[in-house]
Amino acid sequence: MKIADCKIVELPKILDARGNLSFAEQNKQIPFEIKRTYWIYDVPGGESRGGHAFRENQEFVIALSGAFDVVVDDGEQKKTFTLNRSYYGLYIPKGLWRTMENFSTNSLALEFGSIHYDEQDYIRDYGDFIKLKKDGKI
Ligand code: TYD
Repeated sequence: MKIADCKIVELPKILDARGNLSFAEQNKQIPFEIKRTYWIYDVPGGESRGGHAFRENQEFVIALSGAFDVVVDDGEQKKTFTLNRSYYGLYIPKGLWRTMENFSTNSLALEFGSIHYDEQDYIRDYGDFIKLKKDGKI
């Protein structure tokens, strides 16, 4: 998978005098079957998260509140996606290194995954990631 396989998805937005509503459904706006959701919050200033790749897991990330950057790396190129609206999601296919950084105060990152949590699915060493990528194993 390459950076070009990542995509920003504009989610439906129902505007109403009572406030706005957005939504996402599996196999529709989120291009996989959802097996897991988790969220990241209360990130101290200057911290970064992520810093790993997945062998199989695909992800869909929404900045429900605040803003942060998702830096995606396919071993050849890096691209920074800034998420700062709750009606945009970022789809990240498997096999890409990604970090999350520059969290604003009170930001809330909601993530959906295509597989259940499995530590064996993680590649946590960047050198291992580059080697697997070069060998065409991920
Ligand atoms: P990790 O995915 O490394 O966090 P990040 O990518 O944000 O840096 O997960 C941190 C810890 O939480 C790690 O010990 C595994 C645990 N964890 C679960 O138990 N289930 C989950 O679904 C996730 C995402 C993490």
